[in-house]
Amino acid sequence: MTDSFYQRRTAGIALGIGAITIVLYGATLFFGVIARTSQGGFIELRPDVLYEFVTLHSVGVAGSLMTGVTALMWYALSKHVRLSMNLMLIMFGIIGAAVVSLLVCTLMGYYGSGWTYLYPLPFKSAGAWDEWAGALYLLVIMCVIIAMFIAWCDVVVSCSRKYGFASSMGWNLIWGNDTPDTAPPPVVIISTITALCGIMALFSGSITVVQQLIYWANPSYYIDYLFIKNLIYYFGHILMNMVMYMCAAIVYELLPRYAGRPWKSNKIVAISWNTAFIAVTLAYLHHLLQDFVQPLAFQVIGVFGSYMAAFPATVVTIIGSLILVYRSGMKWSVAPLYFFLGLMGWAIGGFAAVMDAGFNQQFHNTMFVPGHFHTYLLAGASFVFVGALYHLTEELGGCTDTFEDRVGLWTWLIGAYGVTAMFMYSGIFGTPRRYAVQMPGTEVYSTIAVYFAWIVVFGVTMVIARYLTRLQRVKPLRGW
Ligand code: HEM
Repeated sequence: MTDSFYQRRTAGIALGIGAITIVLYGATLFFGVIARTSQGGFIELRPDVLYEFVTLHSVGVAGSLMTGVTALMWYALSKHVRLSMNLMLIMFGIIGAAVVSLLVCTLMGYYGSGWTYLYPLPFKSAGAWDEWAGALYLLVIMCVIIAMFIAWCDVVVSCSRKYGFASSMGWNLIWGNDTPDTAPPPVVIISTITALCGIMALFSGSITVVQQLIYWANPSYYIDYLFIKNLIYYFGHILMNMVMYMCAAIVYELLPRYAGRPWKSNKIVAISWNTAFIAVTLAYLHHLLQDFVQPLAFQVIGVFGSYMAAFPATVVTIIGSLILVYRSGMKWSVAPLYFFLGLMGWAIGGFAAVMDAGFNQQFHNTMFVPGHFHTYLLAGASFVFVGALYHLTEELGGCTDTFEDRVGLWTWLIGAYGVTAMFMYSGIFGTPRRYAVQMPGTEVYSTIAVYFAWIVVFGVTMVIARYLTRLQRVKPLRGW
């Protein structure tokens, strides 16, 4: 396969997966907005319906974001290594099966545990949903695990084949065997570290699914509640963090093209991302700080892991991006603006996560938690995702920004910070998360949030419409 054919096909696949996932993203985000509109008192959803909507929303929007970002990271990486297009298509096909199953188990099977599927909830719903819906939901998670396993294994294998495993992990830079000129580019190092960290989490996720399916087939099968809770949070927490890390890899590769300066790998980049690898693995424990039967050492490690996870990669990336753009004479078109604002969303959401771990007695399971992760997903990772889509249409179709592109960006930004600020405020005042009806005295935060949520809907709709229009400008390339 020639280089140019490979480049055209990877671009075509990334553009296509990007188009499908951004539409799915918008559709499933809508269910979250409807849920918030109900919490805000504008409409009245039955609590069981609200939980179905929140389940469909959370897995749907986070899953489509993760799939889209994976395809775009793969596109950014394909400039340096040969990845398998067939594997990417297989991965995408499995995600398609997961989407259909998710729709069936939530909308037809009434499944509504939220994303967490804590044992034995999938099979003990007090009549809210049938057991088959719980089992199907577990298969949805299994599909995601298999799909991401394929994609991430391809990344580790392809990078190691070209640069060697130690160089791809940045270890040769750390030990002085590589220099910034000979080391692999940051997109390779960050993608390899992310993929490896993700693969470890996928193993833990698959244990949680298999154990619960065995329990479904044989209810006398014993599962330790705390053990499986640890594995579920280790899996889910890391999976969502890896979405942001893949976004960072994309920014390291694409932002320098706007700044007109290189962003090379160096010792600091390598050390910070390897530290993040360890820290993010430990950070999930802050979800279990109120589980008093956990060994104390775990809890202490969890708090330190959470503090550590936020700093090395985030701080190094943010400072690096500021140095990159400072006095670069860069033209702030919409794509780099999305990248830059996405990194800021990551930093702000990450800081809120540290607050959550540090003041867990106050914030645990309050709305502060959705506040922090919505910040780095809705105003962080999502922005990098959209920025990369805009970049592709700019690079391959010569598309230029219009007034509507800028309106989409700013309305999404304003709406997103309004939504997340209201989640956090209500959390600070003690509103519990996952309550269909808000506690007396705290309804006002949900009510205000609804206005911002609909501003986001406006912004996201604008972005989707514009991306699909820009896509038509990308000249048809043979061999897609
Ligand atoms: C305007 C945008 C959005 C709105 C209004 C919204 C609304 C909501 C609401 C009302 C909940 C339930 C909160 C609770 O009471 O605990 C929720 C949960 C959640 N949302 Fe969103 N959301 C939005 C965007 C997103 C995005 C972009 C993502 C991911 C990429 C996302 C992922 C999640 C997740 C993972 C949960 C947790 C579900 C659970 O507790 O099991 N949301 N969202």
